[in-house]
Amino acid sequence: MKGIEREPLPGFRDFEPADCAQRNFIFNQWRSVAHTFGYEEFDGPIVEALVLFTQKSGPEIVEQLFAFQDKGERAIALRPEMTPSLVRMVGKRLATLKRPTKWFNITEQFRYERPQKGRLRSFYQFNADIIGESSSAADAELIALAIATFQKFGLKKEHFHVRLSDRQLWVLWLKAFGVNQEQEVGALLGILDKWERRSPESIQEDLTASFKDSTKATLFLNTTEVLRKARTLDAIRECFHNCQPSSDMEALEQRLSELKVLLQELESLGVRDWVTLDLTIVRGLAYYTGFVFEVFGNGDQGRALAGGGRYDHLFEKLVGQPMPAVGFAAGDVTLTDLLRKQTLFPPDQSAVDCYVVFEQTERQRALLLAQQLRAAGFSVLYSLDLQKDLGKQQKKAYADDPHYVITLTHELVSQAKAQIKGAESEQIVDLKSLPEYLKQ
Ligand code: HAM
Repeated sequence: MKGIEREPLPGFRDFEPADCAQRNFIFNQWRSVAHTFGYEEFDGPIVEALVLFTQKSGPEIVEQLFAFQDKGERAIALRPEMTPSLVRMVGKRLATLKRPTKWFNITEQFRYERPQKGRLRSFYQFNADIIGESSSAADAELIALAIATFQKFGLKKEHFHVRLSDRQLWVLWLKAFGVNQEQEVGALLGILDKWERRSPESIQEDLTASFKDSTKATLFLNTTEVLRKARTLDAIRECFHNCQPSSDMEALEQRLSELKVLLQELESLGVRDWVTLDLTIVRGLAYYTGFVFEVFGNGDQGRALAGGGRYDHLFEKLVGQPMPAVGFAAGDVTLTDLLRKQTLFPPDQSAVDCYVVFEQTERQRALLLAQQLRAAGFSVLYSLDLQKDLGKQQKKAYADDPHYVITLTHELVSQAKAQIKGAESEQIVDLKSLPEYLKQ
């Protein structure tokens, strides 16, 4: 008989103990860096009302929702990201909110994507957000936090970099082409976000449909290609001057000076060298309003290691009250691939502290000892086979490779003693003093 399917659903993963150990390692490092930056951990439900995600996250996320009706006929969805839930939660207490509020979270997310390298239907994210601070010092701190999390795994400048961009500059660019309406701006930002993955012909097609004017679409395409290549403040300024003379130069200068402040903060935080100015980053999510960034493995073409940015209007749109906010999320899938490639996971630490072996006549005393050692915080195994003789137990114990093998024979127990054998030592010790001996 064939039996049940042994593989998990497409895009989902089984975590066997070695995978779980790696996942826990990632979570522990994320948690420990978040604490050093003074962020508090929060959590929320895995399912939310569907409308929370369909309102403002944008078409890409909506297409990827695991959505269904519950038995109470509510339209619900597995969360594809944490940001809308965070806004909903914080939205309950805006009047008394500590400013800034700095929260982080490590949770599973679900997106019905086509599974491929770096992209699954279930993945974990580390989210960190600052709510209630509009200055770009908050954006800078989050970029520094993102960088610190990757450094914590031993990743260095040759392994990853941050691409920093700005939605407001793009909005100014679109304005210069007469695009002002929120919906049209959103549609064009969508085209800009996918630019890299599309052929010039299909971009041209979409632009012509948006501008309803093929000459304008061509001009936009050609000049945008130049802006996408700008990597300095001066190059951006020059591009606006040369390519689109009708730009609002005052607004441009104002924004460039804000960008300069952000770059200075990054310099002061000692992370400027990790960050490249790169307007090709637009971000797929619809709610970003200001600086946006993504972290990439060097030489990686695929999915980012992390991404985020400022979303100053999402509170107003979802909970009806304005509140500045900025944040990012890093995913575990691309990170795990990178850490495996660079062999940066620690060696498997799953060996137990002690394996207790005994003559079956001493079983009762051996189990008592096992429990005493466990109560003292050591990990302990013993044979669950009620018949296995001492020799067979020892063979099994050494195969499991514990730090210590503790042997109880009838003769030793009658003297209230046990033998303890480690990698480099072998001793007879009083049974009572074993926990103390192990602690040393
Ligand atoms: P996001 O760019 O959609 O942003 O996701 C952030 C990271 O999660 C990505 O860079 C990637 O590492 C990982 N990720 C996303 N989708 C998948 C997938 N299907 N499979 C594997 N990994 C994936 C957000 O989710 C925003 N909510 C981040 C944010 C927080 N913005 C402000 N605060």
